[in-house]
Amino acid sequence: MRVLVTGAGGRLGRVVLPRLRAEGWEVRATSRRARTDPSVRWAVVDLATGEGVVEAVSGVDAVLHLASSPNRGRQTHRVDVLGTRRLVVAAGQAGVRHLVHVSIVGVDRVPIPYYRHKLAAEQVVAAGTVPWTVLRATQFPEFLDGMLRGASRLGPVLGDPAVLAQPVDPGEVADRLVRRLTAGPLRGVEEYGGPEVLRFDEAARAWTAARRSRRPLLPVRIPGRLGRALRSGGLVTGAAPTGTRTWADHLADTYGGTGAR
Ligand SMILES: NC(=O)c1ccc[n+]([C@@H]2O[C@H](COP(=O)([O-])OP(=O)(O)OC[C@H]3O[C@@H](n4cnc5c(N)ncnc54)[C@H](OP(=O)(O)O)[C@@H]3O)[C@@H](O)[C@H]2O)c1
Repeated sequence: MRVLVTGAGGRLGRVVLPRLRAEGWEVRATSRRARTDPSVRWAVVDLATGEGVVEAVSGVDAVLHLASSPNRGRQTHRVDVLGTRRLVVAAGQAGVRHLVHVSIVGVDRVPIPYYRHKLAAEQVVAAGTVPWTVLRATQFPEFLDGMLRGASRLGPVLGDPAVLAQPVDPGEVADRLVRRLTAGPLRGVEEYGGPEVLRFDEAARAWTAARRSRRPLLPVRIPGRLGRALRSGGLVTGAAPTGTRTWADHLADTYGGTGAR
């Protein structure tokens, strides 16, 4: 069985590829630039322009659609919505039997422009002719880590203490995706989150401690509908099963005992 993986060189793609090969899938991977790798056939595909899409889906049984262009306004629309439509149409014409699309928990609840595009992409997938599955994952810990770095650029860690997060290990999301791909089309949306729901202040305290930092947390309440959605659990899910790797596991792996700041 042959699977096409879009956005295969990204954070999630890198951990998905070895798992697919281990399960016996023959993998074709896409990137906007030419790449070589003895174990995977790379195809040059640009979803924003359509370059390479038709050729890439030809002869594959399934598509795992990971490519995305977050928070880039019109380019996000071109890649995530119009590009997903191009991919779905080409896959339908090529007779692909299953398309698995990765989305984010909260795209239907949290008013973030990127999420509007992700939700529109889900709708494109569901309206297409290819039997489909959508897996919505919560944030990867690397995302939360990057956010905390950004939030502490000026010294203290700025953030809304009551925002809820549920970081999930990308390797565990990759395991779930491979399982979903193998199980066949769900024709529905499944959610998948990490093992614990954390308040932003808890996550931030653990982060500063792991980095041996004394930066205080400076509470800033996020106003309006966005703040309400984030505080009321718009980014978390009660779905089971969940991943097992915790925020503390991520911090230990990333910062170990060295206390890098
Ligand atoms: N990060 C998170 O916390 C998180 C959480 C839940 C769900 N997700 C979802 O998981 C998926 C993968 O996330 P990730 O963190 O692995 O993202 P990533 O590291 O940013 O990788 C996304 C990939 O998309 C490809 N891409 C960008 N523009 C493209 C275009 N015009 N045409 C074709 N490919 C393009 C890029 O590949 P090249 O540069 O090689 O072309 C890139 O490697 C996304 O759909 C994201 O929404 C992410």
